[in-house]
Amino acid sequence: MLASSLLALPLLGLLPTPASAASYTTLVKRHEGSTFFDGFNFFGHYDNTTNGDVVFVNQSASADLAYVNDAGNVIIKVDNTSVVPYNEKRNTVKITTQDTYGIGSLWVFDATHVPYGCSVWPAFWSQAPEWPAGGEIDTFEGVNLQTTNQYALHTTSGCTVAGTSANQSGNLTYSNCDSNANGNSGCTVTEKNDASYGAAFAAAGGGVYATELAETGVSIWFFSRADVPSDLLASNTSAVPDSSTWGTPSAYYPNSGCSIDEYFSAQHLTLDITLCGDWAGSASVFNATCSGVCYTDWVLNATNYDTAYFEIQSLRIYNDGTNSSGNAGSSSSSSSNSSSGSSTPASSAVRLPTSTTSVVAGALFMALAWAVAL
Ligand SMILES: *[C@@H]1O[C@H](CO)[C@@H](O)[C@H](O)[C@H]1NC(C)=O
Ligand SMILES: *[C@@H]1O[C@H](CO)[C@@H](O)[C@H](O)[C@H]1NC(C)=O
Ligand SMILES: *[C@@H]1O[C@H](CO)[C@@H](O)[C@H](O)[C@H]1NC(C)=O
Ligand SMILES: *[C@@H]1O[C@H](CO)[C@@H](O)[C@H](O)[C@H]1NC(C)=O
Ligand SMILES: *[C@@H]1O[C@H](CO)[C@@H](O)[C@H](O)[C@H]1NC(C)=O
Ligand SMILES: *[C@@H]1O[C@H](CO)[C@@H](O)[C@H](O)[C@H]1NC(C)=O
Ligand SMILES: *[C@@H]1O[C@H](CO)[C@@H](O)[C@H](O)[C@H]1NC(C)=O
Ligand SMILES: *[C@@H]1O[C@H](CO)[C@@H](O)[C@H](O)[C@H]1NC(C)=O
Ligand SMILES: *[C@@H]1O[C@H](CO)[C@@H](O)[C@H](O)[C@H]1NC(C)=O
Ligand SMILES: *[C@@H]1O[C@H](CO)[C@@H](O)[C@H](O)[C@H]1NC(C)=O
Repeated sequence: MLASSLLALPLLGLLPTPASAASYTTLVKRHEGSTFFDGFNFFGHYDNTTNGDVVFVNQSASADLAYVNDAGNVIIKVDNTSVVPYNEKRNTVKITTQDTYGIGSLWVFDATHVPYGCSVWPAFWSQAPEWPAGGEIDTFEGVNLQTTNQYALHTTSGCTVAGTSANQSGNLTYSNCDSNANGNSGCTVTEKNDASYGAAFAAAGGGVYATELAETGVSIWFFSRADVPSDLLASNTSAVPDSSTWGTPSAYYPNSGCSIDEYFSAQHLTLDITLCGDWAGSASVFNATCSGVCYTDWVLNATNYDTAYFEIQSLRIYNDGTNSSGNAGSSSSSSSNSSSGSSTPASSAVRLPTSTTSVVAGALFMALAWAVAL
């Protein structure tokens, strides 16, 4: 399987203007069913990053909020049984992979239900440990009763999106990815398919989000259940996902406006659901689709959270074989090895020509950003 895929690589290189053209030959990690939570850390702390009115439970307190249902799918949810006393916070879940996934990775998120409702703010996203250096990719994110998904990148200064309207199906809303611009909105793209979020997502049987972190750019596809390509089906255990066959992505952040090598390093993947907070709870955002006051009228009452859950079939992470043959772009956070970024010979077949100095420049830039942050 690996050998034949490698033989196919030079052909992919000949395709016209590949926005992305990678075959993901290695399944690095498959989270699903009873072993889904293996390799995830539970946050175990109140929301101190987005100021939501929640406590993200630790693993030992997670049994009712993070579990496998009778269908074998994973449920990650907001507590919808407890009355919360005024001035206290509601329990929910935030989990992050211990492993990181670098350039050359594809993550495939397959769910049948995503959280929604007034005050609810779910996300499936990734970030480098040294954020904002190393970047953040928001694959799935929405608030309140909004009807479509929003994509975003967040980076240090200098990463932008330009001239991609023909190459992505979503609407570009902000083009500057700098976390210090536009109130850290990031460079946002709005999905046009209503089945990407809320009740319509569930009514369509859910779907698949596929996120490609490639040297040529970051691309994100959404496929409603009926449209999932055969190489992204969870049941296709022998699939070698090939992003060049999936058509125009919903969101496309090409290397031309944002040197991926420079702004992105290996990413932890996170799933979380918060309530109110910096985005969902901002008065004008909240009032756009909901009424009342986010905390007092919604968070205290358990009956508001019956739709505030993820039901997940699987999360799979693939690598295109361009990074370390042994660990294929995955590394443990406790022993992250950023000095191992040199590519193997196989990579040259699919990668666009890039200067090796960009890797050095990226490392210098990150060191600089870090020093400035101090
Ligand atoms: C949030 O709390 C966690 C756990 O105590 C801590 O590791 C982290 O540094 C805190 N983050 C911020 C932004 O305060
Ligand atoms: C987990 O959270 C519960 C509830 O807050 C707390 O009682 C318990 O001590 C915590 N356990 C660990 C291992 O932190
Ligand atoms: C290769 O993988 C390592 C982890 O094993 C990661 O730190 C590094 O960023 C990756 N390099 C690229 C170019 O993706
Ligand atoms: C967008 O697509 C057009 C047509 O295929 C192509 O010529 C152009 O290079 C693409 N732009 C980017 C930034 O990939
Ligand atoms: C996308 O942009 C078009 C043209 O401006 C607009 O008509 C449409 O409502 C937008 N869709 C979304 C989901 O923002
Ligand atoms: C699985 O994916 C491969 C592509 O990697 C495709 O050729 C094959 O038809 C798919 N199998 C099924 C059962 O969909
Ligand atoms: C949103 O609604 C709440 C409650 O009615 C009100 O207190 C608040 O001023 C409104 N905010 C905006 C921006 O309209
Ligand atoms: C909670 O919300 C339900 C449904 O809107 C309502 O019937 C109930 O009275 C509320 N309970 C409290 C304590 O506010
Ligand atoms: C809570 O939400 C779950 C779905 O996560 C639903 O099955 C249940 O009926 C809801 N209500 C209560 C009181 O548990
Ligand atoms: C880092 O990567 C190099 C080259 O692949 C390898 O020899 C070394 O053992 C790695 N170190 C750790 C701590 O993983």
